[in-house]
Amino acid sequence: MPEITYVGVDGTRRRIDVPAGTSVMRGAVFNDIDGIVAQCAGNAQCATCHVYVDDTTVDRLEPARPDEDDLLDFTACPRRPTSRLSCRLTVTAALDGLIVHVPERQK
Ligand code: FES
Repeated sequence: MPEITYVGVDGTRRRIDVPAGTSVMRGAVFNDIDGIVAQCAGNAQCATCHVYVDDTTVDRLEPARPDEDDLLDFTACPRRPTSRLSCRLTVTAALDGLIVHVPERQK
């Protein structure tokens, strides 16, 4: 099962096995990762599942689609080059080892 590492604002790291076919957001919510709110439950409407993908693993991702790209302009914490909506990151074997950082706030 692909392993995703979630890094909290305080630097705490949690490595979670997330089933392929789900999302990085669901891996966080089902495992009580602080700071991933996901108010719209993955419908690309809230931007409260914002994460900063670690520079060392960002190259594993496909570019954001237009709907994700548009919504990233409305995150509570500033958008960065590695910002993504975790509900739009479908977990696959290619993402094994992905590292994401949780922003200071989501709303
Ligand atoms: S959960 Fe709402 S945009 Fe991702």
